[in-house]
Amino acid sequence: MLIAGVSGLYHDAAAALVRDGRIIAAAQEELFSRKKHDARFPKQALQYCLSQAGEDEALDAIVFYEDPVLNLDRVMQNAFHIAPEGGDVWNATLTSALGKKAAIGSELRSFVSSDDKVFFCKHHLSHAASAFFPSPFNEAALVVADGVGEWATTSLGHGNGAEIRLDREISYPHSLGLMYSAFTEFCGLKVNSGEYKLMGLAPYGRPVLAQKFLDELIDVKTDGSFQLNLDYFAFNKLKNSFAPQLANLVSCQPIPLGGQLKLRHMDIAASIQAVIEDIMLRLARTALETSGSRNLCLSGGLALNCVSNGHIRRKLENLDGLWIQPAAGDAGGALGAALAHYYSENPERQAQSNDSQSGSFLGPRYSKAQIQHALEDQNLVYRSLPEDEQHKDVVSALAKGQIVARFTSRTEFGPRALGNRSILADPRVQDAQKHVNLRIKFRESWRPFAVAILAESLQDVFELEDESPYMLVVSHVKEELRRPLDWDTFRNTDADMQALLKQPASFVPGVTHVDHSARIQTVDKSRNPAFHRILSEFEAQTGCPMLINTSFNVRGEPLVNSPENAIACFLNTGLDVLWIEDFVVLKEEQPQDLQNLVGKTEFELD
Ligand SMILES: [Fe+2]
Repeated sequence: MLIAGVSGLYHDAAAALVRDGRIIAAAQEELFSRKKHDARFPKQALQYCLSQAGEDEALDAIVFYEDPVLNLDRVMQNAFHIAPEGGDVWNATLTSALGKKAAIGSELRSFVSSDDKVFFCKHHLSHAASAFFPSPFNEAALVVADGVGEWATTSLGHGNGAEIRLDREISYPHSLGLMYSAFTEFCGLKVNSGEYKLMGLAPYGRPVLAQKFLDELIDVKTDGSFQLNLDYFAFNKLKNSFAPQLANLVSCQPIPLGGQLKLRHMDIAASIQAVIEDIMLRLARTALETSGSRNLCLSGGLALNCVSNGHIRRKLENLDGLWIQPAAGDAGGALGAALAHYYSENPERQAQSNDSQSGSFLGPRYSKAQIQHALEDQNLVYRSLPEDEQHKDVVSALAKGQIVARFTSRTEFGPRALGNRSILADPRVQDAQKHVNLRIKFRESWRPFAVAILAESLQDVFELEDESPYMLVVSHVKEELRRPLDWDTFRNTDADMQALLKQPASFVPGVTHVDHSARIQTVDKSRNPAFHRILSEFEAQTGCPMLINTSFNVRGEPLVNSPENAIACFLNTGLDVLWIEDFVVLKEEQPQDLQNLVGKTEFELD
């Protein structure tokens, strides 16, 4: 039985393909269109997924990740509710919701042979299915938390075998995702992409406003259920995401997009992060208690808050296993919709011990001939070395402080690069973080990088005890390996971040945040043998079992997908080495005109 899942038309459009319950392919539209967070119907992603089926195979079903009728119902009711202010909403509804969503049926219909093969899955069921069905659990408690789907913003439930039951729900406009986005915008960051930055900013601040938020902004019950005080928000009026009163509450004015961040904004980031962690922990605890399970699956955009995930991992009593869908945002809904439909008709399911997400390497792969053609097309000088020599040469470049882009096999599904489309660097180098941020990613110098570590070395360095193969959990460097930071200059200068960044927080400063935390990817031999080999070689040469791992792209661009994308990124940035399948391309060996391209392209701000 061949089923395609589709998400989109809000943000992060994606497609997935499932055969007899097995995940065959999944990819976001942005990979192909090169438009970050592309929300348009994912035609190219769907075509890619279908290319992974056999030539004579036809789709038995195509499933959209939400119910457009329920979604429209919410938008319409919201417009009634805020009348007479709702005029703008009506217009927006008529042009976007009616215009686009009502047309979704005919888009889907064009990929199957009859109307009765087109299905719709509820938004939070799509999310829940994306986490539970690929997980290694035969039964688990489920928490879904995001901005909004049709009506639900938070759902709790239980997955058992092939069945998912969502039995608790919090509805729009009470939404953790929309609350977090309001603070994202308040701090001058872009909604729907700046949320990661707000999370990264939090360790620079102190959660001094957390209690005030709990008193005034959001009413939280012991079981994690909550209600927003809507006086402080405006997302339901299609204006700013926050209301002017929010500035009074935090005693500080909002800053424009990309504006200068001050200590107060960092305190705001730390405070809202603390509130999110508290609520997510309560929700997770309630989900375990009501389901009687000791396993937990997380999905929805909030499940990409790796700091909150780490908090749950550390604090939740009676938790045996935690599994988070790597594409936890709406892109993963495509996968969940397909899986939910499959298991609604096939009630037999046996979980795989290592999960069935295949390391999330579910996107396109390119042949050696295609790559060689792309290299020659750009007149690049490249080396084709035996495998052992490639590893030795490239890893010794890393050990000398050079920055390497690795391109191999299938593209990752989800926002994190896990070794197949990754930029790698030596985490022991003090200014590696600044260097990669400024010269390669062209982004803010203070943003932290994730660490990829050999799974077998995890507990030598970090406090985390379980694997984290999808880079979705933040933990701390072990106490004895931490180096204290002097915060005085930072605070006396109203947040001169460089004052902190020039101090090493551990022996791997490139991946240790200012609160001694790190976003961790554990790399094991069975899921990711190629990356495991690189890390092992790096350890053999340096004694360090870790590398900085950040996505192979520049600020504001989607992850590189094709060899052509990879070459363009290599030539436009300060990358030293491009290691693309079996070919090694050194910047210093390129003709001068190609070397002169570095930094010439202007990139859109994210
Ligand atoms: Fe969602």
